[in-house]
Amino acid sequence: MNLSVQEMLPQELELVIDYFHDATPEHLEMLGVDPTRLPSASVWRERYAMEYSRPVEQRAALVLIWKLDNAPIGFSSADKIKFGSHANMHLHILKSEDRRSGCGTACVVKSAQLYFAMLKLERLFCEPNAFNVGPNRTLQRAGFKYLKTHNTVPGPLNFHQAVTRWVLERDK
Ligand SMILES: CC(C)(COP(=O)(O)OP(=O)(O)OC[C@H]1O[C@@H](n2cnc3c(N)ncnc32)[C@H](O)[C@@H]1OP(=O)(O)O)[C@@H](O)C(=O)NCCC(=O)NCCS
Repeated sequence: MNLSVQEMLPQELELVIDYFHDATPEHLEMLGVDPTRLPSASVWRERYAMEYSRPVEQRAALVLIWKLDNAPIGFSSADKIKFGSHANMHLHILKSEDRRSGCGTACVVKSAQLYFAMLKLERLFCEPNAFNVGPNRTLQRAGFKYLKTHNTVPGPLNFHQAVTRWVLERDK
């Protein structure tokens, strides 16, 4: 598998916007995303332009692209960033036919390494919907440790839901 993970270029960000805007209601439900909370494409583009204009130390979000044989297959984003300390990550493979073949685990491992390096993190969290088996299994497989299951609104796009909180600590 020739997988690569790198920071997403501004011209590649449409891929993220399209992924959410084109998703079925069932897929958004599984992700715990409230469709009425998705920003319009133009608002989303403006937010990304603002983010990309800031130095990495001041970013509120960071987006990575996952490629297989040089073609995009997925992405990860980090938010709730406290530079030098911690952040939360998200993980998505774009097409269902590319899932469950090991790419997610490998890309999560590579993404975590990049987040630790770029954001000088001590720990990286991830909080998928508790009923969404794919990311929960993948995080465990990628070396994350389970912390707890709790009810919360995990982010600005989400509805109130049960989530599982996972953590990966920086290698000492
Ligand atoms: C989560 C995701 C990125 C994982 O990527 P992936 O390529 O499917 O993961 P892998 O093939 O590396 O699988 C890792 C483990 O999870 C398991 N798994 C993945 N998807 C699963 C599913 N839907 N049901 C049950 N197990 C699943 C695999 O069988 C494997 O288990 P193993 O450790 O026993 O071998 C991908 O499934 C995805 O994009 N899902 C939709 C988006 C999503 O839910 N994102 C999470 C938002 S927080």
